[in-house]
Amino acid sequence: MSRTVYVNGEYLPEGEATVSIFDRGFLMADGVYEVTSVLDGKLIDFDGHAVRLERSLVELDMACPIEMDALLEVFHELVRLNGINEGMVYLQITRGSAGDRDFIFPDPEKVPSTIVMFTQDVPDLANSALSKRGTKIISVEDIRWARRDIKTVQLLYPAMAKMMAKKAGCDDAWMVEDGHVTEGTSNNAYIVKGGKIITRQLSNDILHGITRAAVLRFAAEAQMVVEERSFSIEEAQGADEAFTTSASAFVMPVVEIDGVQMGDGKPGRVAMRLREIYLDESRKSAV
Ligand code: PDD
Repeated sequence: MSRTVYVNGEYLPEGEATVSIFDRGFLMADGVYEVTSVLDGKLIDFDGHAVRLERSLVELDMACPIEMDALLEVFHELVRLNGINEGMVYLQITRGSAGDRDFIFPDPEKVPSTIVMFTQDVPDLANSALSKRGTKIISVEDIRWARRDIKTVQLLYPAMAKMMAKKAGCDDAWMVEDGHVTEGTSNNAYIVKGGKIITRQLSNDILHGITRAAVLRFAAEAQMVVEERSFSIEEAQGADEAFTTSASAFVMPVVEIDGVQMGDGKPGRVAMRLREIYLDESRKSAV
């Protein structure tokens, strides 16, 4: 069935929605995005994603083409029009098209930003087979730019790293810089050691995950100890458990790192408990 998507104020069948070939998102990856999950037809962590979107735009001097109240209405309308019970809403804002290619940013008064949104129907998002099996990951060098805190659409290297993982018979990759794990290709990385949850501290080196913030809050509420510091692949391989978090996979257990099995090779207890708490709590506060 054809989806209804949203482009610059219009709801259109996906085959009729177009963006200029001069759009800076297309020519220069001059754009930002957000992925918000949908459970029970409702949006998970909408406010967190909206706040991060505004921050990404401010960091890049990009105009926001829509008010946040209106944005929430568009999210709801797309979920309704496409009958999404479980899945995701993708949103992208680019610096628009000045009708030619030019490195210099166009005047935002003259060239409006482009906004595109579409839904992705994933009926088994909360109950995914992968979350029961756990993921196998490889490590790769982190060669991305130094502003990973901004959620830009420059995703070529993460896509290449996922391809490297696929070729190695694995599911995903963790990126390593100066001997320490920064994050996963599209998620934040964690290990569990002696009951402690360890994840890299926030900085410009990683994306400030919305799921990360919620999971760390729930972990603290459940009296779990959280340590925000970096760790190496060797430390991760020797840990009791490992997992990742993201809007598209919630809390995802990791069962193998660079060929070394974690524990008994099954999803860890802490990861599964956090997944359950995250799903329960975020369903309650979904909008
Ligand atoms: N990725 N780190 C990176 C590099 C990411 O791309 C993402 C999200 C995260 C987790 O952030 P959050 O919890 O806010 O989803 C961390 C999205 C899901 C994607 O690109 O599909």
